[in-house]
Amino acid sequence: MEEFYRIRRLPPYVFEQVNRAKAAARNAGADIIDLGMGNPDLPTPPHVIKKLKETLGKPKTDRYSASRGITGLRKAQAGYYARRFGVKLNPDTQIVATLGSKEGFANVAQAITAPGDVVLCPNPSYPIHAFGFLMAGGVIRSVPSAPTPDFFAACERAIIHSIPKPIALIVCYPSNPTAQIASLDFYKDLVAFAKKHEIFILSDLAYSEVYFDDNPPPSVLQVPGAIDVTVEFTSMSKTFSMAGWRIGFAVGNERIIAALARVKSYLDYGAFTPVQVAATAALNGSDACIREMRETYRKRRDTLVESFGRAGWVIPPPQASMFAWAPLPEKFRDLGSMQFATLMVEKSGVVVSPGVAFGEHGEGYVRIAMVENEQRIRQAARGVRHFLESGIETLHNVVPLANRR
Ligand SMILES: Cc1ncc(COP(=O)(O)O)c(C=O)c1O
Repeated sequence: MEEFYRIRRLPPYVFEQVNRAKAAARNAGADIIDLGMGNPDLPTPPHVIKKLKETLGKPKTDRYSASRGITGLRKAQAGYYARRFGVKLNPDTQIVATLGSKEGFANVAQAITAPGDVVLCPNPSYPIHAFGFLMAGGVIRSVPSAPTPDFFAACERAIIHSIPKPIALIVCYPSNPTAQIASLDFYKDLVAFAKKHEIFILSDLAYSEVYFDDNPPPSVLQVPGAIDVTVEFTSMSKTFSMAGWRIGFAVGNERIIAALARVKSYLDYGAFTPVQVAATAALNGSDACIREMRETYRKRRDTLVESFGRAGWVIPPPQASMFAWAPLPEKFRDLGSMQFATLMVEKSGVVVSPGVAFGEHGEGYVRIAMVENEQRIRQAARGVRHFLESGIETLHNVVPLANRR
């Protein structure tokens, strides 16, 4: 029987092969160090949990909540944008709270896409960027992830050669998976480009607060007039280690925000009110916990780069995000990232994500998530050293990339 129309557009989960290797190694008793998924291991700050507990059971909090987010939460997000980016937003018309930024992204796609509409999507990128639009009946055209001058030439080419003309361009900096960051100057050019070509910008700023030098990642909305063409997504998941709570935001262009709010009003009643109240407390509270989070990831980043480097694998140090984007070590390059990551689980007990899982231009790399503590990262490096030294000829079932179909 033919697969359902929509399911045919969703390939089997890209991490399946590595997950199978992980499960097999665990079953065999191996101590697996999982640096695969970007699932934060840090605890949610205590004052946020306290607020949740205080709110539980209060009158009316068990009822359906507000689909676009309670007023206090939207005001708190406006406060964050004003403080952090100097951007003034109207909480009633320019902000919607979402069930995680991923849901917001997927439902913006539902809201703005007609069947066959073309969207420019970075490759490699976080899967929902492409699949949100594919699920909505759209068509994806890949553009580079790197925010270099070539980016605009490639986008221009893609626009000229797309029929119909693309409706939107997706950007994500700090990037998942590549950890690249963009400057405000890049965003100025981006906004001018989007206006010239009359396309929307959808900016995923999930890692706005996860950065390691003195340059906080900017928002596209800092560019004067950007709101005419831009919607930006942020998340509580990484900033406050609240990934399981499912709170994020879409902010910016009123027409798109209204469209998203309309779609959501048919689909959900908002997150559980106590979760929204606690998220409000997080955004309005001290940012000491954010600095602490940043420092933890920075130390892990340094440990990763140093210990893997000593093990023989040079990892370019990421300036932001919770990921390192690492080229395959020289002698494994012909294997391709999927096979390399699978063997790495088997031979070193360390799980990483194959770059190809984020799009074909991610081939040749793996993504290493810094979601284990420094001691475990050092332990991972010891496994990696053993793996790298074991040499490709000792590994079984290896078919070089060039010999595979
Ligand atoms: C770039 C990017 N966008 C969005 C998300 C999803 O965030 P949320 O938990 O807010 O849905 C992630 C999570 O890993 C991400 O890396």
